[in-house]
Amino acid sequence: MTSLLNKLPPSIIALLVQLAAILLTVFFSQLFNTRLAPYAFALLCGTFAATLSHFAGLARWWLFIQFVFAPLLVLMLALNIPPIIFLIAFVIMLVVYWSTFRTQVPLYLSSNKVWQAIETKLPSQQAFTFIDLGSGIGGVLTHLSQANPIGRYHGVEAAPLPFIWSWLRIKFGRHAQCSVRWGSLWNVDLSQYDIVFAYLSPVPMDALWRKAKQEMHPGSTFISNTFAVQDQPPQETVSVDDLHRSTLYVWRM
Ligand SMILES: C[S@@+](CC[C@H](N)C(=O)[O-])C[C@H]1O[C@@H](n2cnc3c(N)ncnc32)[C@H](O)[C@@H]1O
Repeated sequence: MTSLLNKLPPSIIALLVQLAAILLTVFFSQLFNTRLAPYAFALLCGTFAATLSHFAGLARWWLFIQFVFAPLLVLMLALNIPPIIFLIAFVIMLVVYWSTFRTQVPLYLSSNKVWQAIETKLPSQQAFTFIDLGSGIGGVLTHLSQANPIGRYHGVEAAPLPFIWSWLRIKFGRHAQCSVRWGSLWNVDLSQYDIVFAYLSPVPMDALWRKAKQEMHPGSTFISNTFAVQDQPPQETVSVDDLHRSTLYVWRM
């Protein structure tokens, strides 16, 4: 059971736990032959959900979300908000975050200071190719192409809205050295690039390192913003004086 749960993304485990908590709450109210008021039902449900989440091995911050989920649901229903608002909010979240529930890599952006720090790692004499894996709204690509026009800058982005945004930004900003495509970073052949940049999350880093090791050519450079690779010390780290105190990890392959 635990090994099956380990294979599922936390968001799916959280959903299954909520369903189990509803069943348990219904079971208990039947057992004691009581008809619970909606808030009491929701609070009991939240308590079961938080407890089960603990045993399912979810991170501690999930327990809070799991506890408040059903009570907030009842509260929102009581506010009588038109359903269309929820549909619109859902569609916006879907096009911005897309498969984040599975990849565990949400959209957040590198700072300007990170862009400038990457700039210093680019060749200044000979032409090169650069890729941003999970290129978001294209800020890294468009900045670097202006700072160092001898490179070719590519991006791959899985979420529809950031992809469309970056595509329009590149097209209408006339960034001729840039291109971006909609797809998964796992389908990119990294052997085509001299510099591979990623700003993802701790979750995919081990698998990405294996892919980089397998595909990147000798002499190429792999740069990760913020997220290191376990047991793979980088040749260089660059501390960036931005809001998040970002660190760039640099490996020469
Ligand atoms: C933290 S953001 C980084 C955005 C940009 N690279 C930057 O530094 O500002 C990570 C991006 O990776 C995208 N992403 C996550 N998993 C992906 C995948 N498997 N293939 C392509 N893009 C992915 C997300 O949609 C998100 O836009």
